[in-house]
Amino acid sequence: MAKGKLIVLEGIDGSGKSAQYRRLCARLEKDQIAYTHIVFPRYDRESSALIRMYLGGQFGTHPDDVNAYTASTFFSVDRFASYQTEWKQIYEAGGLILSDRYTTSNAVHQGSKLSDEELPEYFSWLSDLEYRKMGLPEPDLVIYLDVDIETSLARMRRRQQKYGTSADIHEKDVNYLERCLHTADRACEYYGWTRIPFLRDGKERELDEKNNEIYELILRTIEK
Ligand code: TMP
Ligand code: MG
Repeated sequence: MAKGKLIVLEGIDGSGKSAQYRRLCARLEKDQIAYTHIVFPRYDRESSALIRMYLGGQFGTHPDDVNAYTASTFFSVDRFASYQTEWKQIYEAGGLILSDRYTTSNAVHQGSKLSDEELPEYFSWLSDLEYRKMGLPEPDLVIYLDVDIETSLARMRRRQQKYGTSADIHEKDVNYLERCLHTADRACEYYGWTRIPFLRDGKERELDEKNNEIYELILRTIEK
């Protein structure tokens, strides 16, 4: 069976993921490279019901109130529904899929509920669940956008003020977000994700400079 390419952009809240994503889409369009854009979670779909209950605090107001394995399944089933109904055919016909978050977000945000010793078993369970049992495609490239905690929090607060949105249980918990950053380091090593460093020579890098780096990686992956 023909197989497409799946490229994933990953990063915690306030990592600049959405800004990078928008620029990448615009560049692909300008270069006339056909792609399909997917985003997780899909808040407006029935398959995200448990995600909305969880992030809205109906199972407890702290992320740790629902353990890593249980919460992961909420997000995994939404991905399964999306694959089956929206992009399986395109992918199997050889299409390019660009995803804003994926299984990788479970690794970072649910893995952070476990100790370093427990992580390898969880990472392997997660891959088995989504990529083998559920049959979702494995990414050809995962781009992880590094950020520091202060920048992440500042950007998140600015966005919440601008759009008047309220924080979900993950966003409200600074200690949890710090653990996510730590877990992302472990996940990058374990899965071999490509890291886009936040700093260069101790200074925050420009959005466009990082975008050029990411776009090069994407072009190389498409050509493979
Ligand atoms: P959002 O910030 O992109 O709206 O995503 C909501 C939160 O859910 C965010 O903290 C990341 C987390 N998450 C998971 O834990 N697992 C997943 O598979 C996805 C897609 C998101
Ligand atoms: Mg968020």
